Amino acid sequence: MKTYVHLNQLVTLEGALKKDGRRLVPADLSIIEDGAIVFDDERIVWTGKSSELPAEYQKNSIDMKGHVLTPEMVDSHTHIVFGGDRAQEYADRLNGVSYEEIAKRGGGILLTMTQTNKATTEELFNSACARIERLHSYGIGTIEIKSGYGLNFEKEYEVSLVIDRLKKKYQPKIQIFNTYLAAHDVPRTFSSSSQYLKEVVLPLLEKLAPMKVIDAVDIFHEKNYFTAEDTDLLFSRAKQLGIARKIHADELNDNDGAKLAVKHEALSADHLLKISASGIAALANSKTVATLLPGTAFFLGKPLAPARTILDGGAKVSIASDYNPGSCHCDNLLLIASIASAQMKLNQAELWTGITLNAAAALALPNQGALLPGMRPRFSIFKTESLSHITYNWGKNFAVTTL
Ligand code: NIG
Ligand code: FE
Repeated sequence: MKTYVHLNQLVTLEGALKKDGRRLVPADLSIIEDGAIVFDDERIVWTGKSSELPAEYQKNSIDMKGHVLTPEMVDSHTHIVFGGDRAQEYADRLNGVSYEEIAKRGGGILLTMTQTNKATTEELFNSACARIERLHSYGIGTIEIKSGYGLNFEKEYEVSLVIDRLKKKYQPKIQIFNTYLAAHDVPRTFSSSSQYLKEVVLPLLEKLAPMKVIDAVDIFHEKNYFTAEDTDLLFSRAKQLGIARKIHADELNDNDGAKLAVKHEALSADHLLKISASGIAALANSKTVATLLPGTAFFLGKPLAPARTILDGGAKVSIASDYNPGSCHCDNLLLIASIASAQMKLNQAELWTGITLNAAAALALPNQGALLPGMRPRFSIFKTESLSHITYNWGKNFAVTTL
């Protein structure tokens, strides 16, 4: 059992939890000034004001003056297993070539596919370790990692197993969620997305499912990538196999991706730059989380997702980094969220819920994301005077990861 006392602020998010992460006001942060928390390895035992800490928990307590404790930051959308880089493409984009144009030339995801296939298992594992450790240095404790740069049966299988190895290496300190995204792009050797889906994506899903390696499937549902029919096929099979669904939706065009997510009870619909009013209404009436990836819009020079309309429409919103070699080569979720909140007009409760409670919901982790007795003791610690100072000093790293 451990006790922290005299935290400048203990951010419990009790209010946000009660509202299921929707329609939040700043009071929903539920901040306890001069707070204390008691926990063991499995669960939180007590939270409250230091002055009210029961005597039985006072022994060996650790003085945390000068620190703020929040629910654990979760990055619920990353693509960090890849070979090579796309620095030259980024330079080309700054010279006016669009992301879509680069993809048409065989660059983009397909370039990373070639570079990933050239990399050995150990190279992929080791570069992913370095990336995970950097994310952790910012205070992130749970990371979703997608496969999707192998794009053939053997390499996708290898990458899913690399993610499983990463999961085993880092748990329980860093929790990893393994998402199968073989349906990320269609290699040029296939005549259609449907052919690739039937010859590679679905057969590999059949192999991986009984191995209990993957936590969810994902698909890039987008014009020139995968169709609604492909998505229906993949999601129906995943559901039969008891595997959760996630989707890259309505990013480059409004393709009714959010509605497709709701139809298949997906954990989340991600991107949503072009989401329609009816897509927002569908999300609002569902458990599916709207995951926004503002770093990608910044890096592609595109208008941000309509976050305010999505929030006011009643959807549950999370924010993730989308850290990947092409459309967002930034690993710092808190930096992205800090900038985005001013641009997207999010209040602090919406921002923090978006990177903790709602991000955990996007990974089916209902017992974390708020700091209340009975919940899992997963939190992030910052050496600073108040929560406001963290995002006010955007880009500065206050995380303490050694306690
Ligand atoms: O989420 N949209 C598809 N996947 C990534 C981009 C990956 C890449 O460009 O390599 C994304 O933005
Ligand atoms: Fe992505």
